[in-house]
Amino acid sequence: MFSDADAAALYDLLNPWDPDSRPDGGFYFPLVMGAESVLDVGCGTGAMLHLARKRGHRGRLVGLDPDRAALDRARRRADIEWVEGTAAEAKSGAGFRLATMTGHAFQDLVTDHDVFASLSAIHGALRPGGRFVFDTRHPQARAWEGWTPSNPDDVVEVVDDTGRVLRYWHDVESVVGDVVTISGTVAQLDGTVLRVLSERLRFLNVMALSGFLAEAGFEIEAQFGGWDREPVTGSSREIITIARRG
Ligand SMILES: C[S@@+](CC[C@H](N)C(=O)[O-])C[C@H]1O[C@@H](n2cnc3c(N)ncnc32)[C@H](O)[C@@H]1O
Repeated sequence: MFSDADAAALYDLLNPWDPDSRPDGGFYFPLVMGAESVLDVGCGTGAMLHLARKRGHRGRLVGLDPDRAALDRARRRADIEWVEGTAAEAKSGAGFRLATMTGHAFQDLVTDHDVFASLSAIHGALRPGGRFVFDTRHPQARAWEGWTPSNPDDVVEVVDDTGRVLRYWHDVESVVGDVVTISGTVAQLDGTVLRVLSERLRFLNVMALSGFLAEAGFEIEAQFGGWDREPVTGSSREIITIARRG
């Protein structure tokens, strides 16, 4: 009733990539356009790289993601390399100038092993001096507390490509340590549930994140608490890191 391909299409409807109106897009896009080679880790449906090529990026663009249905959408643009795989499977020696992990994809790395193996592989895929830029939600903001159908802002209605009206909302299934398990329910307006998508997200704090980055060989060049490059403070909702391979 609601396929993986439908889920990937829904992702694009809910998260249109637009550097002109979305603050995260506005942060990442100039970095991507200014780097001659870019590895987008957890690229999903590939929207950021699509736009980079469309707006004239002439260098090497590679998107890496383990989700085949998302990559199938990404492959609609053939002038970009698309690789099916996890961050930990990023190829070493590729010599990228820039690696990105946008849209809080980093939070999909839930175990210490996942985080370390992924950071190490991304480090290996960069050339010396290359940068890894990524975002993760700051745990202090407890974003998951807003992921409930009782929050009107968290219940969205969209019309899909086939004209179906879909309602989508989240529920938090559990919070165990710094890992939050959520479900996303896709339903028709009459309440018929079409699909329940489940996801585990890790909320690393600044200190834990710094430890993992150092262990993988990264130096932190800059860290921000929001998309306007403001510092991380006690009220920040984001931890946005520019890490450099030394
Ligand atoms: C929230 S989406 C973000 C997609 C895209 N980066 C964006 O900004 O819209 C998270 C993506 O991370 C991918 N992902 C999950 N586990 C991953 C892993 N271990 N390595 C790389 N990507 C992963 C998912 O398949 C998904 O496409």
